[in-house]
Formats: sequence, structure tokens, C-alpha cells
Amino acid sequence: MNINGKAFRTIWVKPGDEKVIQIIDQRHLPHQFVIEELETVDQMATAIKDMHLRGAGLIGAAAGFGMYLATLEAPGNDAFDQYILLAAEQLKSTRPTAVNLAWAVNKQLDAIQNGNTIREKINIAFTIANEIADEDAEHCRRIGEHGLKLIEAISETKNGGTVNILTHCNAGWLAFVDYGSASSAIYTAHDKGINVHVWVDETRPRNQGASLTAWEMAQHGVPNTIIADNTGGHLMQHGLVDMVIVGSDRTTYTGDVANKIGTYLKALAAHDNNIPFYAALPSSSIDWQMEDGLKEIVIEERNGDEVKYMEGLCDGEIKKVLLTPFTSKAANYAFDVTPARLITGIITERGICEPNKESILNLFPEKK
Ligand code: MRU
Repeated sequence: MNINGKAFRTIWVKPGDEKVIQIIDQRHLPHQFVIEELETVDQMATAIKDMHLRGAGLIGAAAGFGMYLATLEAPGNDAFDQYILLAAEQLKSTRPTAVNLAWAVNKQLDAIQNGNTIREKINIAFTIANEIADEDAEHCRRIGEHGLKLIEAISETKNGGTVNILTHCNAGWLAFVDYGSASSAIYTAHDKGINVHVWVDETRPRNQGASLTAWEMAQHGVPNTIIADNTGGHLMQHGLVDMVIVGSDRTTYTGDVANKIGTYLKALAAHDNNIPFYAALPSSSIDWQMEDGLKEIVIEERNGDEVKYMEGLCDGEIKKVLLTPFTSKAANYAFDVTPARLITGIITERGICEPNKESILNLFPEKK
């Protein structure tokens, strides 16, 4: 992804210093572009928990690099393995819903134990962290190619007229290492010359749509309009949405999709208006153990202050303001689950499948 013409990923090893990981600190976007340096597991765990970085794929990549940092700071004696296990638990406990987090930590634990010396273990962790990041970017690129076909087909039915796509939260480049999932399909279509316009849900309470997706789309030159979260149903009733594409933080192998809070309501409205509703996700976001998303997926509950306060630019400074009575209580459920029956299809790096066990396992037969 290019920022002001310069190619960036969302996380990378600092050039010239392999002991430092650099990230884009997303808390400052869209108003400031800040790069943060992380050198310890504690710092990486804080960056994930307090959402300096966020989004399922990026959380997975960050966890991979967090485990690498753990190998660097672990004691060089018999206590090494115990230290690594504690670091794994610390990273896994930061955010519960995105399955990529545990997936990446477990992948590192499996690999690190194959090293015979501490030096070997550090080298393995470094290699695996980079592989996780590279694979995330490549899978998202492929998701874009598969999603393109769906957008192309709608464009043809409209004789090249604008394809209006609604998206929720940020399933873009900033939620992964590069490209994004839902947004990857949109960028690929835009780059192929298809006329697309994106309705960007603001995505309260943290406004990932208004702050991040709208910024990304603008950087890529994709026409977009931010809407208040409750607007989508109205637009769908009036023929102003051709398709919905969202991301996912955890998808069961039976096709239930956990995504940012409010996704379920968009799926209901899309279903009522016969509008195709797609979830785009790399297979690292599929939970191969979970069958029933509603019963089994743990939904993160965050601090109610994220609902009560809002941050933004005021007189050239970032300020935080209270929206509610000071003493009001607020509940902050971060995700919801859209049942498979409301989903038209799932766009993965291997192609598009129906949201059911048979179709998903046909694409990933090694998981049978
Ligand atoms: O709480 P966040 O910002 O980490 O939420 C994750 C998301 O970005 C969205 O739910 C997104 O649509 C999923 S795609 C990674």
C-alpha cells in the first residue's frame, strides 16, 4: 500500500536493527502518521491490547513478531523455554476474538521447539515471524483477485455503471500486513478500471471505518462516502447498495462469521433486500475447531469509555470529548456473529466458497 506515494506495510523489522519491530501506530490516524518502535514482548502485548495496531491479520503478524522478541529477551539458560511459554500466554491473553492471534503464537511455539540451541531458536522465530507476515500479505493479495470476479460480474450487469459496495469497520490494508481482505477486492477492481464507490460505515465506538477505511480508500483513490452506522439499511432499501463485503476476526469451519459489532445488522438488512453479502478472510481467520459461532466464539468486551468518549481533531490538536452524562454506564461489545444462513459466500485466498462445512472443506481438504 502506498502512503503519499511511498510503499508501506503495517509491520516490519527495522532496517539495520533486527531487534526492533516497527509498526504504524493506528491510534493517530487519519490525522497523523506515526511509526512506533517495539523492542519487548510487553510493548508488543500493549500495542495489541490497546490497539496501536488492530485487525485480525495484523494481530496475528504482531503476535508472530512478539514471539520473536520473546526469544531475544529470554534468559540464555534452562529458563528459556519457560519464558517463551509465559510470553505466549501473555500475547494470547491480549484480545480474545481474532483467532489469528492464537494461530500465530502456536505456530511459533511449534517451530521454536525444533531449535537445538538458543541461537537456532531465535533464528527460527525470526524466520517464522517474517513468513507469517509475508503469507498474510500474499493471501490478502489473492483474496483481491477472487473478489474481483464478483465485482466484475456486478459491473457487467450494470453496463459498467458504478458498483456500490458497503463495508463495515476496517477490513483493509491496516487490518492486515498489506492489501486487506474486503478492501483488497475493492482495490483490485478499482485498479482494473471498474467503477466502484464504497459506503464506509463509521463503525462506532472506535470509528475504524471513518478514521481508517476512509483514509485508506482516499490514499488509493477509491471514491467513498462515510455513513453513520445506522444508514446501511436505508441505502439498501433504495437500491443504493449492490453488494456488501466485510472482513472477519474468526470464522467457524461451518461458516459463521464473527466481525466488528454491527456486522450482523448489516447482514439482516442485506438479506431482507436480496443484496449479496460476502465475508472476505484468509484461512488464518478460520477456526477449525469451532462449529457453532453463536455459542462458542468469545466476544471481547472493552472499556465502556470507548462508547462514552470520542477523539478527534480540534483547532489543530487531537482532543477527547465526553458525549454522555458523566455517570452513565456504557456497554462495549466489540464483535458480533453473523450466522452462515445470512452470508452469500466467503472469499478466501483459495477461492470463493459457500458458508457451510462441505464447501469450506472442499477448498481446504487438508483440514478434513
Ligand atoms: O477491533 P478491531 O479493530 O481489531 O476489529 C477487527 C477488525 O478490523 C474488524 O472486525 C474487521 O472487519 C475484521 S477484518 C480483520
